[in-house]
Amino acid sequence: MSNKVVTIYFLTGNKHKVIEVEPIASKYGFKIKGYPGYKVEIQSMDLAEISEKAALLGYLYLGKPVMVEDAGLFIEALNGFPGPYSSYVYKVLGINGILKLLGGVSDRRAYFLSATTIIYKPCIITERGRVDGYISIEPRGDKGFGFDPIFIPEGSDMTFAEMSIDEKNKYSHRARSVSKALEKLGRCIEYMGSET
Ligand code: IMP
Repeated sequence: MSNKVVTIYFLTGNKHKVIEVEPIASKYGFKIKGYPGYKVEIQSMDLAEISEKAALLGYLYLGKPVMVEDAGLFIEALNGFPGPYSSYVYKVLGINGILKLLGGVSDRRAYFLSATTIIYKPCIITERGRVDGYISIEPRGDKGFGFDPIFIPEGSDMTFAEMSIDEKNKYSHRARSVSKALEKLGRCIEYMGSET
């Protein structure tokens, strides 16, 4: 890769996501700039389709390197609900609504999925990430966002909301999809450089 640090515009209004992704980007030699207002979200059951369409439209608007990340919480006992509708369900039901829905259910298994698309012409990359875990009995912790206070990843006994950014990034769906995508981008840029 050349020495010039590439800035990638992360199309999101979610500051927490930007803070999570910044240290990952710098590990791979990229700079991230949060860019709210350009994320067009289509409806689909497939997070990768959502992130790809949003990134393509964002790239058309901006004409600069863009990244879009889309995620959802899938609860086994609720047949994967809320899944791609997590944002809406979070707004309408919130954490307590989810805990109520689960009531006395003993199967607390759940997972987060994430899809990240990066467009840095001519590289178009989409990668997925997943973290398996459990829904806690009650909310714990005050860090992070969304369903963080009720999600405990496998291999830990803390919720995401009890973890520092670095700790959450060791487990999270987002850290996994973003790391894979940035790694691939590095290789794509290297390949393009060797072609010229
Ligand atoms: P988005 O469409 O990627 O913004 O994610 C949809 C919803 O899923 C968000 O509004 C959050 O409620 C939830 N969500 C996604 N990722 C996370 C996470 O890392 N922690 C907690 N909740 C999350």
